[in-house]
Amino acid sequence: EAAPQQKRTAPTAPTYPMARTSPVDPPPALAELRSGRAASRVTLWDGSEVWLVTSHSGVRAVLGDRRFTAVTSAPGFPMLTRTSALVRANPKSASFIRMDDPDHSRLRSMLTRDFLARRAEELRPAVRELLDGILAQLVAGERPVDLVAGLAIPVPSRVITLLFGAGDDRREFIESRSAVLIDRGYTPDQVAAARDELDGYLRELVEDRLADPGGDLISRLVLDQVRPGNLTVGELVPMCRLLLVAGHGTTTSQASLSMLSLVTDPKLADALTEDPALLPKAVEELLRFHSIVQNGLARAAVADVQLDDVLIRAGEGVVLSLSAGNRDERVFPDPDRIDPHRDARRHLAFGHGMHQCLGQWLARVELEEILAAVLRWMPGAKLAVPFEELDFRHEVSSYGLGALPVTW
Ligand code: HEM
Repeated sequence: EAAPQQKRTAPTAPTYPMARTSPVDPPPALAELRSGRAASRVTLWDGSEVWLVTSHSGVRAVLGDRRFTAVTSAPGFPMLTRTSALVRANPKSASFIRMDDPDHSRLRSMLTRDFLARRAEELRPAVRELLDGILAQLVAGERPVDLVAGLAIPVPSRVITLLFGAGDDRREFIESRSAVLIDRGYTPDQVAAARDELDGYLRELVEDRLADPGGDLISRLVLDQVRPGNLTVGELVPMCRLLLVAGHGTTTSQASLSMLSLVTDPKLADALTEDPALLPKAVEELLRFHSIVQNGLARAAVADVQLDDVLIRAGEGVVLSLSAGNRDERVFPDPDRIDPHRDARRHLAFGHGMHQCLGQWLARVELEEILAAVLRWMPGAKLAVPFEELDFRHEVSSYGLGALPVTW
């Protein structure tokens, strides 16, 4: 008698991203995966299967390995969102975050000296002055105050317009267009339109500086790179767009969630009030804890790579979960607790390897100054609504808050 034919369907890989069960913690499913193999199969929104890496060591290994490409048109590259398909269709307007060497380092190196820790430090007094101006107005007004609209949105965008020497009058335009680029609620057409408008504005800014250079970052690039022929205007525009978009929503999200922790965790607020020298450490810990690039980073293998017990083949996509890596108990004991005394400097919130965040020192200065300003101007600040009513922004590529109403 013939054996009944066995139909074996392979268990389908879980859908990624998974759902959170607590608004300030990554999905618990990530912790389960982290205790398993070096990488696991997951299914993305478009039905494609990719590898997901959740351990601190695995994320670092892949991000530091040149056998993984950041070029979105590479075979197997994970399309984390619907709009990433748009980036893939427009390789010409790609910025260096989506390039490999030698192009990547040629373009990135033109900016290194503007984003050194020392340069960010030089901007600190201007950031503090900006914050004092904003806070003087906020505290003079009605309570509660929304710290997202009041601080988390305007500060990063004003710091970037300061760097670009752009007029404050175009800030609303810049904010609204870059919000479309990082929010998932928009269609690819809307994203393309916002990007074209932003590029049109940046091209004007670049042409203006070509005609009449000043002391700002774009002028320096025009004088040092465009005029000698190292950089074309067609390359400079996406570079400016990258700085604008990468430094904007991310800092807004991280500032919003850091302030949330400050106003909901009296131990944290007390520790920082007692010892302000703890601020840089606390900022690092909050970067680790919140890991706002919530769905992680995408790469594709260009060669076969053995990652511990998993063989990743050339042409396969890989997603690196920064939030899972940042809660890896092998590196950060008691990882789900915010401890401002912890040395969290090995966190992955800014990525790792050749693409590690260029603006990280600037982001640190902004975050430190924002928290210091809240402590200084609104001592004892607390939430003005129940925690359950907060509007966490799940749909945005950098996880954040819609509003943070506080009183003090
Ligand atoms: C790259 C996070 C603020 C500019 C990155 C990457 C991460 C990140 C994870 C790596 C992307 C990858 O490997 O694919 C953050 C977070 C921020 C922040 C969490 C705030 C808390 C900023 C700021 C700027 C900036 C303020 C500049 C004004 C950039 C640039 C890159 C980058 C230019 C691309 C670097 C490269 O490809 O070589 N950021 N970022 N970022 N970031 Fe940030």
